[in-house]
Amino acid sequence: MHPKDTATRYDRIARWWQTQHQDSLYGIAQLERAIKFTPNKYLALDIGCGSSGRFIEILSKHGFQVEGLDISEEMICLAKQLHPDILFYREDICCWTPTKPYSLIVAWDSTFHLSLDMQEPVMKKLCDALEPDGVLMFTCGGGYGQNEVSGTFQGQDFEYSTLGVNAFLKILNEQHCTCLHLEYDQYPENHVYIIAQKIRSSVVIDV
Ligand SMILES: C[S@@+](CC[C@H](N)C(=O)[O-])C[C@H]1O[C@@H](n2cnc3c(N)ncnc32)[C@H](O)[C@@H]1O
Repeated sequence: MHPKDTATRYDRIARWWQTQHQDSLYGIAQLERAIKFTPNKYLALDIGCGSSGRFIEILSKHGFQVEGLDISEEMICLAKQLHPDILFYREDICCWTPTKPYSLIVAWDSTFHLSLDMQEPVMKKLCDALEPDGVLMFTCGGGYGQNEVSGTFQGQDFEYSTLGVNAFLKILNEQHCTCLHLEYDQYPENHVYIIAQKIRSSVVIDV
């Protein structure tokens, strides 16, 4: 599915998402874990931030300057109403070019909507956008190999893809990031979250 079509579908459920998720604890313990691993608390980016700004609020409380990015116009519009002081980008993560280094980048249940061919370039882009010691947390489908699935959520059809856990770890390694935490957090659901940290160039050893 083209990201534009994903956006249209999220536009339709953006208001529902805001009411439903504003006080949701879903993914919050995982976010707190990623924050604990993050030594510098300068700039943070929430990719696929949605309309509630729930991650943005927590990141701000921890002292980060936070930015939000989402492809859905409606999601961004509603998030801005709740968080008027936050810088939001209404962008497709596949096309967006980061211009600043981030201490922490979070992509909770957003990049799993990308097509298979966009998974690797986007992951590389996110790793490149980290400052030294910066941390990336993202969710993906688990398992060994590539997979594409579709499903219906709140009456909307969505598509999901994954490269498989090993391929994501390989990309992180190639981008000089090390995995700090990997968990099937909703087992037996095939949902994984990964926390990785950019290695300082002084400690990168090429073998
Ligand atoms: C399942 S929601 C998660 C929202 C938020 N992370 C949360 O947990 O509350 C997925 C979000 O990712 C956004 N998204 C999907 N594909 C995207 C893309 N290519 N670029 C940017 N955002 C995208 C959707 O618009 C939607 O707001």
